[in-house]
Amino acid sequence: MENAYTAKAYSAASETAPLAPDTVPRRNPTDRDVQIEILFCGICHSDLHQVRNEWGEFMPTVYPCVPGHEIVGRVTKTGPAVENFKPGDLAAVGCMVDSDHTCPNCQEGLEQFCPNMTLTYNSPDKHLGGVTYGGYSDSIVVDERFVLRVPENLDLAGTAPLLCAGITTYSPMRHWGVGKGQKVGVVGLGGLGHMGVKFAHALGAHVVVFTTSPGKTDDARRLGADEVVVSRNQDEMQKHAGSFDFILDTVSANHDINAYLALLKHDGNLTLVGAPEKPLALAAFSLIGRRRSLSGSLIGGVAETQEMLDFCGEHNITADVEVIPIQKVNEAYERLLKSDVKYRFSIDMASLKSG
Ligand SMILES: NC(=O)c1ccc[n+]([C@@H]2O[C@H](COP(=O)([O-])OP(=O)(O)OC[C@H]3O[C@@H](n4cnc5c(N)ncnc54)[C@H](OP(=O)(O)O)[C@@H]3O)[C@@H](O)[C@H]2O)c1
Ligand SMILES: [Zn+2]
Ligand SMILES: [Zn+2]
Repeated sequence: MENAYTAKAYSAASETAPLAPDTVPRRNPTDRDVQIEILFCGICHSDLHQVRNEWGEFMPTVYPCVPGHEIVGRVTKTGPAVENFKPGDLAAVGCMVDSDHTCPNCQEGLEQFCPNMTLTYNSPDKHLGGVTYGGYSDSIVVDERFVLRVPENLDLAGTAPLLCAGITTYSPMRHWGVGKGQKVGVVGLGGLGHMGVKFAHALGAHVVVFTTSPGKTDDARRLGADEVVVSRNQDEMQKHAGSFDFILDTVSANHDINAYLALLKHDGNLTLVGAPEKPLALAAFSLIGRRRSLSGSLIGGVAETQEMLDFCGEHNITADVEVIPIQKVNEAYERLLKSDVKYRFSIDMASLKSG
């Protein structure tokens, strides 16, 4: 293709294949495009769901699939109409790379709900045809309107996960007004959960972590939790009945949400951000007795993502990461399934050059 160049990447060839070295086409930067050399890319549990086609009913995976939507890097080239970036700048890309910019959602800064939004991977690619390819790659080319600025004081490996795990937990907390005087629960201490704890703490709430992993208790406190509950312990759960203003549920697998709804006060809200493969069972009485509400949330808009990054810059917040070379990505996926990550894998993309 004349309008494209070849980038190195890791892709999955089918839902049962491990990720393996590959090459993908990337468009040469057009007018508004920013070309970024990727330095770090976080591993989100959504990458694993998508690679294994676990969301087949809603968004079937197109193979080969190059996942990765927690991207930080340096600008290498810009199109002539680009205004806010120049070669050498730090830059970041999250879960979206385009939208129609005209619909009511886009007008409101809620590009994540745009009916014509393009996801960073596995979405129809308007420029080259086929689908978009994500950040497990040495470079990416993105419309400047979806490229974020990175505060200079933050560690880059720990900044990458902010682009999904960060915004996905920050956005619902802002929407539901998490702040001082509130009791806030975070269910699941993985990539999203540990960011949720950091944000709820920074926003001034009393934070309670619910975990199935007793070994994470000390870390939960270090990350900002005031209390930690091992959720398999019924007595410990019962002590918190009817006491929460807000609970953020980040669990990636099937679990009993009614047990958490029972912990909300009247008018309390539980927001699901975890996206398990199978439907969750809801008991009507979990909600109606106390006018509780159950809702969901999807990442966040571009402006809010920038606000979150700036908030992280001011409060010196990054993800706690285990940096890995890309050659270890399949092993990392297996560990993710065992809740064995502290608390986000971040791929050092320099490893792709050598491998
Ligand atoms: N809504 C959005 O916009 C959005 C964005 C990104 C990701 N997601 C989704 O959010 C979910 C979490 O992503 P992540 O990257 O944070 O995953 P992760 O790092 O694997 O964390 C998930 C955590 O859930 C808990 N957990 C796992 N299996 C469990 C089970 N069977 N029962 C109870 N708890 C269990 C574990 O915490 P403990 O060890 O503490 O129990 C685990 O660390 C995924 O489904 C992902 O696709 C949604
Ligand atoms: Zn994600
Ligand atoms: Zn739109």
